Amino acid sequence: MRLSGKGTFITGGASGLGFGCAEAFLKEGARVVIADLDKEKGKRVADTLGDRVHFLKLDVTREDEWISVLQQAEEWLGTLHTLVNSAGIAFFLDVENTSLEDWRRMMAVNLDGVFLGCKHGIAPIERAGGGSIINLSSVSGIIGGANLAAYNASKGGVRLLTKSVALHCARKGTGVRCNSIHPTFVQTPMVDDFVANTRNPERTRAALVEQIPIGRIGQPEDVAAMAVYLASDESSFVTGAEMVLDGGLSAQ
Ligand SMILES: NC(=O)c1ccc[n+]([C@@H]2O[C@H](COP(=O)([O-])OP(=O)(O)OC[C@H]3O[C@@H](n4cnc5c(N)ncnc54)[C@H](O)[C@@H]3O)[C@@H](O)[C@H]2O)c1
Repeated sequence: MRLSGKGTFITGGASGLGFGCAEAFLKEGARVVIADLDKEKGKRVADTLGDRVHFLKLDVTREDEWISVLQQAEEWLGTLHTLVNSAGIAFFLDVENTSLEDWRRMMAVNLDGVFLGCKHGIAPIERAGGGSIINLSSVSGIIGGANLAAYNASKGGVRLLTKSVALHCARKGTGVRCNSIHPTFVQTPMVDDFVANTRNPERTRAALVEQIPIGRIGQPEDVAAMAVYLASDESSFVTGAEMVLDGGLSAQ
């Protein structure tokens, strides 16, 4: 039990990587609050995960909701050691075809959401005596793609925001660490939707796999294993780091 007694708050926990983290954290003994915009799905998945899980509705773009939901989470958990910022959206458009409205929506969810989580998550983690903030960026936060203008910008922002938060917390000396995870394509509803909406889904899926030297796309368990490590005391010397999980994609 590597996370025994560690209170954990996971945004985007109703689906995909956030849900995968919730499952893995529970197996390692944590208590988990799943926070998500999708109330129905969030409640449903929390019910399947047992009595160490609680669901709270949160729109990560809303600062008032962050403040009140973190307070409720801390009360339910007792202490909050770990915050996983996994809520996010993706669309695939080049810069010329991205409307200002789409750009702002992407920034609001993927970057403002993580900013607000870090800003308001530090104090409760300090009250717990220290812990870990884990931000889901992407390999697209490190390398660019022609049709990823807004996504690249939002995830690149998360990458450097994470380092600033890590340095700020290290300077305070209150035991809060902050790291980012950078996966390539992982099998979640986000990627399934993207593949399903292409002209030839089978070919698209094969093309995704072809890009990845290790010969497969990621699974939520791959990301959850890294998140468990970053939440555990095994990573007590790791902060401001960018953990790349891409089957060798960016090594080329
Ligand atoms: N799946 C991948 O291939 C992949 C790769 C790299 C990075 N990521 C990143 O990992 C994170 C999780 O992705 P996923 O694949 O699990 O996606 P997903 O679509 O399966 O899940 C995202 C969750 O975020 C929630 N959400 C969306 N907007 C929200 C908001 N405003 N407030 C609260 N919750 C909101 C959704 O309801 C959903 O439950 C995202 O930040 C994504 O960019 C995913």
